[in-house]
Amino acid sequence: MRIILASSSPRRKELLTKAGYDFEIIVKETDEQVNHELSVRENVKQIALKKAEVVHLDNKDAIVIGSDTIVVKDNIIYGKPNDREDAFNTLKLLNNTTHEVISGVAILYKDKVINYSKTSYVTFKNLSDDEINAYIDTGECFGKAGSYAIQGIGSSLVDHYEGEFENIVGLPIKSVSRHLFELTTNTFKIGDIVIPNRLVLAPMAGVCNESFRVLCKEMGAGLVMAEMVSDKAIGFKNAKTLKMTKVNNIEHPITMQIFGADIDSLVSAAKYICEYSDADIIDINMGCPVNKVAKKAKAGSSLLQDPNMVYEVTKAVVEASSKPVTVKIRIGWDENNINAVENAKMIEKAGAKAITVHGRTRSQFYSGKADYNVIKEVVEAVDIPVVGNGDVVDIVSAENLFKTGCSAIAIGRGSLGNPFIFRELNAYFNDGTILPKPSHKEILDTIIRQYKSLVELKGEHLALLEMRSHTTWYLKGLPNASYVRNIICRLTSFDEVLTTLTEYFNKLDNK
Ligand SMILES: Cc1cc2nc3c(=O)[nH]c(=O)nc-3n(C[C@H](O)[C@H](O)[C@H](O)COP(=O)(O)O)c2cc1C
Repeated sequence: MRIILASSSPRRKELLTKAGYDFEIIVKETDEQVNHELSVRENVKQIALKKAEVVHLDNKDAIVIGSDTIVVKDNIIYGKPNDREDAFNTLKLLNNTTHEVISGVAILYKDKVINYSKTSYVTFKNLSDDEINAYIDTGECFGKAGSYAIQGIGSSLVDHYEGEFENIVGLPIKSVSRHLFELTTNTFKIGDIVIPNRLVLAPMAGVCNESFRVLCKEMGAGLVMAEMVSDKAIGFKNAKTLKMTKVNNIEHPITMQIFGADIDSLVSAAKYICEYSDADIIDINMGCPVNKVAKKAKAGSSLLQDPNMVYEVTKAVVEASSKPVTVKIRIGWDENNINAVENAKMIEKAGAKAITVHGRTRSQFYSGKADYNVIKEVVEAVDIPVVGNGDVVDIVSAENLFKTGCSAIAIGRGSLGNPFIFRELNAYFNDGTILPKPSHKEILDTIIRQYKSLVELKGEHLALLEMRSHTTWYLKGLPNASYVRNIICRLTSFDEVLTTLTEYFNKLDNK
């Protein structure tokens, strides 16, 4: 088997030779320089990505070994000692102490580039100066090159190791450049349309109208997806439906979603949107589980049962559209028919520019947990961007979904009463900032804004009815929320709602 060393270290080269390996080196020194102006995590990511890129550019069909190990103490980066003295001083300093170790690696295996970055903790042995010198001279640990994260600093130096690899994603070779672009710019592309960050508002019928979408956009959603519209209703020129295809200038980029089962009708609806709607992207709904759509109309998630139909529908809409087409799927019809990978390949083959995968089956509706493993399998199976979806409600869940290697994450229920989630996640993924929760004043102001915007869109009566649900969501988790909710649901004017809410928040603030 051919071995490639993705590391420029002359010492590693020497030791690999000593260990009797036949190998090639493909990473230049400049590919792995630590930039002290960047955070440690950013450095690890950059180095792993550079390695992945080099591996990719070389396009070798071989096993690549290479890891970066960086030890962090008091926010100073250690590791990668350049010379003997440097190595000695670093090791002496780390002697008998516990430190955070961050690793990044790029491995090419068969047709996949695998990236990981991982934090773990090591406690160093208490070695004498002679022992450190002996280590530097012999590098006895090196026989384990690439075998685990701590090898770069020498497993023989380590007394205790805590942690295991995670966040390993096998990416199809062809999509590595795209992934590198996404990770380094924190954006992604659907066709030619650049989505300014990797957070998407998932489509929600009855929720994702212009008022809510604008709020989410202003809070930082990179892409907003409109609630689904029926292809037939577009065909019948239903006034309410046609109005739903209108978009506000500040919403770009925005996706309009259509649902249906009949190819001709879907094609006509797509053509209508291309001609009369300013939406940037057209999405086909293949995930809706409700009986009226999935059973009666054989649309939504019903299509998932027939991958050939998935292909035909997607291909016809792609061919008829001047805008990029995407498809939103569930992982399958039920637990015995999980076919997301097969459907995703069909969707890609048919020319769609991205796929959103909700990690549940149709029969789960919204119960149970979204299966991120299947989402990861889809990411690894196709070259077009995959938007992961399901159960993102905070930073931890968002990070977990990103570990699938998906290009972006779509947030549905986690944004209900919490459009602030986009601001929170952007701050965290941009530079690790954890923002404070919105103040009661901001929540109240947001409710008022959404109501006023809904009045303009739908009139006072419907706005009041819709705001009952939204207000309930905004209050979720606050003290006595259900009591206030019951009062609000009986009120017949927004002025009364406002008075009740103002009193409620005042009381909370004065407690
Ligand atoms: C009230 C509601 C309405 C929804 N409407 C749509 C829809 O119109 N089109 C669609 O593709 N998915 C729809 N979904 C599914 C969501 O887009 C998303 O896939 C699902 O809620 C899982 O994501 P989450 O856990 O972030 O909510 C809807 C979900 C909810 C809760």
